[in-house]
Amino acid sequence: ANYFVDNNAFAGKTVLVSAGPTYEPIDPVRFIGNHSSGKMGLAIASEFASRGAMVELVAGPGVKVESAPNIRVTQVRTAAEMYEACVGGFGNVDIAVMAAAVADYTPVVISDKKIKKKEGTFSLELHKTRDILKELGKQKKNGQFLVGFALETNDEKTNALEKLRVKNADMIVLNSLNDAGAGFGHDTNQVTIFLKDGEEIPYPVKSKSAVAADIVDMILKKQHA
Ligand code: CTP
Ligand code: CA
Repeated sequence: ANYFVDNNAFAGKTVLVSAGPTYEPIDPVRFIGNHSSGKMGLAIASEFASRGAMVELVAGPGVKVESAPNIRVTQVRTAAEMYEACVGGFGNVDIAVMAAAVADYTPVVISDKKIKKKEGTFSLELHKTRDILKELGKQKKNGQFLVGFALETNDEKTNALEKLRVKNADMIVLNSLNDAGAGFGHDTNQVTIFLKDGEEIPYPVKSKSAVAADIVDMILKKQHA
């Protein structure tokens, strides 16, 4: 528990946060997307703002953003739009937290007319979207602190550590799907934080706002370590 929270700990700092899903259009009425309410990213944005940071929030479709002082919102729809907004803004920030569930694939061709159903199977050609976190990891300068998330169903630790390394992040927050009440659509979450120095910190199931406070506390502790 926090007996004392310094509500000016991030004064003068700018934080980029991504939140929510992306929708990749197939035709005018259909898309490919991920399950994501954006609640975790929103909670992190609010937590930083309440501790004095200026927050640049890049929010995907359907994310219920409430206006707040110190939070500037850019609404995007696709992975490509989210890439532009995040990579474009990264140079000016001290901390970036990529909490969005970005679509990994997008249709090669977007039909301008509604695709009519036919007999038989239907297949769609997809190509990979660009990895925003990985690009930020490439562009990261001394003094910038980069945080990613990982969502895994198996080999959680191995995969989380691999993401930390490959994307040049300083911290990976592993979201557990294993505990009842954690994850999509829920107001609670259970995370484990992995740090570049090899530390691994497990947390119990908590409300998403309490998880956000834990994540922000850990960033505060590690950003100049
Ligand atoms: N991420 C991103 N851009 C993408 C895909 C993912 O910035 N095009 C970020 C997410 O916001 C998250 C981290 O990368 O912070 C890990 O996302 P995740 O989906 O768990 O991993 P991937 O690297 O996409 O690999 P996979 O889905 O195959 O596990
Ligand atoms: Ca992915």
